[in-house]
Amino acid sequence: MKRIFSGIQPTGEIHLGNYVGAIRNWAYLQDDYDCIFCVVDYHAITIEYPVEEMKRRTLDTAIILLACGLTPERSKIFVQSHVPEHTELAWIFNTVTPIGEVERMTQFKDKARQHRANINMGLMDYPVLQAADILLYKAGYVPVGEDQVQHIELCREVARKFNTRFTPIFPEPEELLSMAPRILGVDGQSKMSKSLGNYIGVLEEDDVVWEKLRTAVTDVNRVRRKDPGNPEVCNIYTIHRAFSDNAMLIEIDRGCTSAGIGCIDCKKMLFENVKRELTPVREKARELEKNMDYVVDVLEKGADACREIAHATMEEVRATLGLYPPR
Ligand code: TYM
Repeated sequence: MKRIFSGIQPTGEIHLGNYVGAIRNWAYLQDDYDCIFCVVDYHAITIEYPVEEMKRRTLDTAIILLACGLTPERSKIFVQSHVPEHTELAWIFNTVTPIGEVERMTQFKDKARQHRANINMGLMDYPVLQAADILLYKAGYVPVGEDQVQHIELCREVARKFNTRFTPIFPEPEELLSMAPRILGVDGQSKMSKSLGNYIGVLEEDDVVWEKLRTAVTDVNRVRRKDPGNPEVCNIYTIHRAFSDNAMLIEIDRGCTSAGIGCIDCKKMLFENVKRELTPVREKARELEKNMDYVVDVLEKGADACREIAHATMEEVRATLGLYPPR
């Protein structure tokens, strides 16, 4: 069975972009692949964060993954810092990664702009650690949103550089995009993201979700109710595509382009579908919160299984590098 690896940062709150761009897809993929999913806490410390909240955010993120349908029977789910080989392999990869390649990463440039007071080495090294995450398990596929595609390209480059300089032991992994790889925020302009505050949280209450949807930007050229709209440039329609069936999409397309339905009607339909899909996720999350022993157990077992694979890869890597082994 082909192996999949993907990761998510413990920001504590997961938004609709993470959900339809990645996590929901992970849940589908579990039946067909050997899956490893990781809460990447070492990536999260590359920007300022509240130290006292990190433990809670890590557990909350694991809860959401389980609530969205990941199961320990089908996937290994664990916390990155519980398997130290991730950072060990990242160091080795640093020695084959050209600085120019990491400097041109869009995410690095964006983050460097956003966090001017702390442009640290970790921020720059972020995609190298990401390559180590994936290649430590020799994963062939990486299900991510569109914003991560450049990092997966770099991962292939790192694998290629290592393989040609030493011995070819790593695959060149490919990204797997979901059907909604790029969801914009409620501002209709930038990628939905927690840091920009333009997000709708998966666990947010219905009234909060509705308020955010109600005021979300649609086709900016549709000024009056009687103006026809263009679904192709409307972020609400993009989100509809991820939550609504074909019949409804056709109904909206016809209604919007003929001004038969207004944006609020369209948003109400979307709200109902989001609610139908996320209500069970929220219920499951609440249940899991009362059963933290189970959540911790899942993470422990996941880390145990991953440590074994990671250990074997590192033995192979050290031998490949010609390092002097301990007795
Ligand atoms: P993170 O935590 O930012 O996001 C988790 C996943 O959600 C996707 N995503 C989106 N998809 C569609 N529309 C959006 N607006 C949107 N926002 C986020 C992301 O593409 C991602 O798949 N660097 C990674 C974490 C990581 C990783 C890895 C991923 C670390 N190591 C190894 C894959 C393999 C990240 O920051 O994800």
